[in-house]
This record gives sequence, C-alpha cells and structure tokens, in this order.
Amino acid sequence: MYFTHPQIKITGENLKKIFSSFLKKPVQQAAQKQLSYYFPEKKFLFTDMGRTSFRLIIEKLNLKNSQMLMPAYICDIFYPILKKYHIKPVFLDIDLKTFNINPEEITQKITPQTRAILISHTYGLPANLEKLLGVAKQHNLLVIEDCAHAFGAKEQGKYVGNFGDVSFFSLYKQFPSLRGGLLVFEKNLETSLAKTSFSFRDFLSFLNCFPFFSFFFKKFGSEIAPKMLRKEKTERPSQINRVSFNLFLAFLKDFERDLKRRVELASYFQEELKKLGFETQEAKNNVFCYLSALVPLNLDRDKLVKDLRKYKVFATRIWHTPIILNKEVRKEYKINLSEFKNTVATAQRIINFPLQNYYNKKDIEKMVGILKKVLKN
Ligand SMILES: Cc1ncc(COP(=O)(O)O)c(C=O)c1O
Repeated sequence: MYFTHPQIKITGENLKKIFSSFLKKPVQQAAQKQLSYYFPEKKFLFTDMGRTSFRLIIEKLNLKNSQMLMPAYICDIFYPILKKYHIKPVFLDIDLKTFNINPEEITQKITPQTRAILISHTYGLPANLEKLLGVAKQHNLLVIEDCAHAFGAKEQGKYVGNFGDVSFFSLYKQFPSLRGGLLVFEKNLETSLAKTSFSFRDFLSFLNCFPFFSFFFKKFGSEIAPKMLRKEKTERPSQINRVSFNLFLAFLKDFERDLKRRVELASYFQEELKKLGFETQEAKNNVFCYLSALVPLNLDRDKLVKDLRKYKVFATRIWHTPIILNKEVRKEYKINLSEFKNTVATAQRIINFPLQNYYNKKDIEKMVGILKKVLKN
C-alpha cells in the first residue's frame, strides 16, 4: 500500500469512466446540466488551468494596474500573473485555526487604489464569507472567490463559488482530470480561448494517478517532494483539453458520495492527529481537498516528511513557500515578514497527509500507526 496524493482506484467502474473519457467527444450541454446543480444562476467557462480563469477575471473586470487584497498564505503561481498585469498585491495574514484571512485586517490595509479582494477557501474550508462579503461591500470591492481547493464546500446552505462577483476552481486538485480550471460568473463573457490538446506531459500526469506509478515517481523524485510544475499550455488564455473535460464530468457524477466518505475519514484522521499533538484545521463545512495540520512545536517538519517516506507515506508541505516567502516577491514588494507572523509560522509547520476518497478506516489506522512509529524514533 502506498499513501500518496491523488490516485484512481482501479475498479471496473473507474476504468469505464477513463476509457470513455479518452474516446468521447466533449458535450458542453452535459457540463451545463451537471454544474447548474451547484451554481443555479451562473454561467461557466472551462479553462486550461485555474490560473487561466484568474487571468481572464483580471482582463474582463479591467483590474490591470490596480491593487488587490489577497492572502499572504497562498501559492506563488500568482506572482507572475500579478506582475504581467501590473497588479499590486496587498497581503493579509491568516488565522492559525482556519488558514484563511481575517476580515478585521482588511480595513487597516485598504487604500483608494484597492479594487478587488481574492478570497481563498484554503484546503477546502470556506472562508468567513459573511464578514468578508460585508467588509467588501462596505468598501465597494469586487470579490473574487478562489475555490481552487473547495469544489462542493457549502456555506450558509450554498456551494462556494456562488458568493463572489466571480469565482474559479482548479479541477485537477479534487478530480483526476489532470488539468482544468472552471470560471463561474454571472453574465456571458465574450471571449475566444485558444484550443489545447492532450499531451505527453498530460499522459505522465495520468500515470501519476495510479498508485504504482505515483509511488515510482515519488520514490525516485527529489528528496522531499518531487516538483512537477504545471504551466499553462499557451501564452494566451486557453481552453481545457478534451480528455480532462470528460474525466471531470465522469468523476463529478459520484462526487457527493465520495465527498461524504472523504469528510468522515478526514474527521477521524484529525482526531487521531490531535492525540499526537498536531493542531488541525477547523472541520465544519470543510471538504478536505488537503488534510492539513500543523506539526507539534518541538518537531522538525521536514525530517518528519522524509521519515514518513521511508514507510511509503508521502505527505506534502503545501505551502512551505507561500507567495510572501518567495524571494522575488519579498524583494519586489518589500515584504516585512513581522506583519505576517501566522503565515510564517504556518509555512514552517504545515504538513498535508495523503487522503483518498476510497480509503477506509483501516488505511487511516495504518498511517497513524506509521506516524506513531516515526514520532517514537
Ligand atoms: C489556492 C490556489 N489558487 C489557485 C491555484 C491555481 O490553480 P491551477 O494550478 O489550476 O492554475 C492554486 C494552485 O496552484 C491554488 O492552490
């Protein structure tokens, strides 16, 4: 048994979904129908990646040359985009219990040039939308919901992605779709996207979805976590490829059933982690895209990750280098790290444990057993 991130369990049902995804023509109406359950009053656009959707948002909402509030604890893929569109980020620190931003900090940091706020539902836990939307409205800010980790998460009875002026998702984080972004918005967006096709690089990502190959890539990857950086396929914003589109729709069908099981497993895992001194993220309404925790204060996180690998448990550290710790970002925006104490502490202590929808309680017990053994040593 290998414990790694996204995998497809080999079952007859899944193989059928995979084969038909490679063979089928994409049917846009099917997507419209399935997604209108989640976003009843919205329009959709499938893009190559989540970041492609974010670029379209900037272009369509005319956010170039403005200031944008955003979490300090978010991935640094945003940096080249901010630079390209001359957007000055105004970073906000996070809460140690939720890993999401604090509404209180917004009023202190807002300036007359601030036009929008990026709200991320980090790791799948919905941000404090009620308060955040209230402050955003008060200051006339456009709200961009970053739902990259949070497909299927609900807040006040509504799926996230329905709250912002515009929202986007990163499909391959929760579905074995290899690539794909989803832009959710209110009106028709007049846009023409470049076409993309399924590539050899996508084929490697596909192999990585199977336990054996995933183990192989990780085993022979770099010391802690092999970096297989994904990039947008084309310079100008492009569409999702046909196979990724079909895979997403095929696996969306059983998503709610899988999510229920995932949340149950995650809650059980969290309880076990707490007993070992880990601090876990709040669980209410969390869809656990990543099962994330802070390691106990006296523990060397990186050593723990390395030691777990020896027992085939491949934990990750998303994000040990959030955007404000990226060297170029620090220099360009003259980041004063003392303003972001929680972000810095989280980056040092974060660990994300592998969690698959098809795991059972025994698998979690096995992982906890390994964790105990490693901690004892
Ligand atoms: C919070 C968050 N937002 C946006 C993105 C961008 O998504 P994608 O990799 O699909 O471009 C990522 C991941 O890279 C992310 O973690």
